[in-house]
Amino acid sequence: MPRKDDLMEAKEAQLSEQKQQPPFITSDHGVCFENDTDSLKAGVRGPVQIEDFHLREKITHFDHERIPERVVHARGSSARGYFELKESLSDVTQAAFLTDKSVRTPILVRYSQVLAGRNGPDMTRDIRGFAIRFYTSEGNYDLVGNNIPVFPIQDAMKFPDLIHSARPEPDTEMPSAGVTNHDNFWDFISLTPESMHAVMWMLSDRCIPRSLRMIQGFGVHTFVLLNAKGERSFVKFHLRPSTLGVHGICFDEALQVNGVDPDFHRRDLFDAIARGDFPEFDFGVQVVEESRENSFDFDLLDATKIIPEELVPVRWVGKLVLNKHVDPFGENEQVAFCPANLVPGIDTSNDPLLQGRLFSYLDTQINRFGTVNFTRLPVNCPVAPVVNNHRDGFMQGCIFRDKFNYSPNRGASIRVDAQRGCPTHPTPIQPGATKIRAKSEKFADHYSQAMLFFNSMTPIEQQHIIDAASFELGSCKESVVHLRMLDHFNHINRDLAVKVAAKLGCACPPALLDWTYSTQVSKHLSMLDPLGGTSAGSSVETRQVAVILADGFDAEQFLAVSQGLKSAKCVAKIVAPRKGKIESSKKTEDTAVEADSTFFTTKSVVFDGVIAIGGAPSVQTLAASGACLAFINQSFRHYKPIGAVDDALSLLLDVSSYGKVQLTGKESSSVCSDQGVVSSAHGASSEFVKVFLDALGMHRFWMRDISRIPA
Ligand code: HEM
Repeated sequence: MPRKDDLMEAKEAQLSEQKQQPPFITSDHGVCFENDTDSLKAGVRGPVQIEDFHLREKITHFDHERIPERVVHARGSSARGYFELKESLSDVTQAAFLTDKSVRTPILVRYSQVLAGRNGPDMTRDIRGFAIRFYTSEGNYDLVGNNIPVFPIQDAMKFPDLIHSARPEPDTEMPSAGVTNHDNFWDFISLTPESMHAVMWMLSDRCIPRSLRMIQGFGVHTFVLLNAKGERSFVKFHLRPSTLGVHGICFDEALQVNGVDPDFHRRDLFDAIARGDFPEFDFGVQVVEESRENSFDFDLLDATKIIPEELVPVRWVGKLVLNKHVDPFGENEQVAFCPANLVPGIDTSNDPLLQGRLFSYLDTQINRFGTVNFTRLPVNCPVAPVVNNHRDGFMQGCIFRDKFNYSPNRGASIRVDAQRGCPTHPTPIQPGATKIRAKSEKFADHYSQAMLFFNSMTPIEQQHIIDAASFELGSCKESVVHLRMLDHFNHINRDLAVKVAAKLGCACPPALLDWTYSTQVSKHLSMLDPLGGTSAGSSVETRQVAVILADGFDAEQFLAVSQGLKSAKCVAKIVAPRKGKIESSKKTEDTAVEADSTFFTTKSVVFDGVIAIGGAPSVQTLAASGACLAFINQSFRHYKPIGAVDDALSLLLDVSSYGKVQLTGKESSSVCSDQGVVSSAHGASSEFVKVFLDALGMHRFWMRDISRIPA
């Protein structure tokens, strides 16, 4: 069914108004300049003249380029696109964009990290923000979510403390890269038992994602939906990559990615859109009827809890597509999301964390923009008309010609509209409630869902949590922090506590004899579980494969590999000992290839897999290059698929001897695949390419013994 694109066109028009037109440089007042490189001087060596307004205007503008970065989530990357509804939610909401399937709604998504500064590195262990603005016909709706479904605290009152503790420690301003492996953070966490469920997620590979295109999104809080009959239900919002799956990387790799490419995630998002590989996400809801509000073991208003999908399945009702780049300042930096930007049919719940957020965002944005008029910026401007009596203020961009700036008035006054307006649901207040600084009793269970998460992980995912905890706490110096955290771990899983204690070199707290460990699992939480994990069955499309070669490579093998990767929609990048044209053994112009990078300018950590092409002179050069061997060994250490053809098998000596990997025999005509290492002694056959792609689809081969691999 063709969709109506009126909203898309309206948003496009708002954004394109800002584009610069003439091909010449002018002043801010539109006057063309004859020279933009020399200041006006008294003689060629003379002093600069104060009358040079062009110079002063240019420098002044530069001097004022910076605005305060966001107080949290400062580092972010955005993309624009659209939302399409596939199944109407009119049974539970009246929101137009969730009920009218004929409309394509323009959106802007901003991904972010909570802690890194605006120019910090991408690959920190951190929660990723996943904020979506829907420019709907009824006004802007902002879903300001994260890539994990729970938050470390239950009440907004604690937010400044949480963030202060995670920031660089105030006496030294270290660590300053947006990381949490320091005493203050774990001190606060250890004194905040409610954080334990979120901590399990944060220590998992979810918080070192492979790509922003491969994360889930969650609204976190329970929100309220209202339908046209005025009926109320509760809702949790969900997003998942449509085909790419949810993937993390390995932690040792994460530590190195920032050095090789601090823009790893930003570049990945930008490049994917530039190639036309538009990220797509399914949009879903978990809806709870009003009558079930109090039927769970946990409180729906507690943001440290999920609603297990076994209890309330997700209805996948729509799709987000990101197909446009944004202006990094005009859109990514100036977009101002706010959880209070709601449309008729979606309302907030009484979640005390959410209630605090409703205050915080507008407040901080007035600080960030220095004016209340940031809503007039093209990225923030709704496509729905804005009509009210808000006037003036710094940087007011509107011209008002009407007589009245108040209502009611004696003229044709603007008025509210009960039909179109955001309804307020007449929700009963708890009978007999008094003002009180406390929470409902169900908020007090801090361990059940932390156990549920840990229990639901595969053994390798549990090991990664243990490793991450050992790294984070291993960087802490205060033994009191270790002991308190081990005590929490002991309440989640005995093995977790024992293994982290062993890595920290401290005594584990004694086993808890009168404590009940839950054995519940949910099959929707693991990334790796082959039956239902979030990466199961994901496509290899857009995966980056390093094809390594040197002068004298085998042109036919290269062609077969590059075509095979291309037809699977993977991205092949040539890595060679030097830049420029690399000649094949045929030495013909049409078989030469251009190197994308060298072993000096890139490292294996930014690729998903590697294939070494044969050809005697090429392999001779590669075998003599320690950097090339390190590239392959690192790929092995990071559990990635590796392919090698013919003489290039000789580059896998360390892998086969120290990693105990079986390679194909020199005489064998079949392709051998062992632990994700795919070898062929008979060229790059279609079978070789297929088996390699299957290995790429497995993402990582966690079963490898990497302990003796030199790299
Ligand atoms: C009381 C708790 C919280 C407070 C006080 C708070 C406050 C803030 C503030 C001040 C910003 C910067 C906004 C700006 O300058 O435009 C921000 C950004 C953000 N917050 Fe929160 N936050 C809280 C909890 C949460 C939670 C629970 C989530 C996830 C559900 C979340 C997700 C985000 C995201 C994604 C951004 C970045 C938005 C963007 O990309 O511009 N926050 N938060």
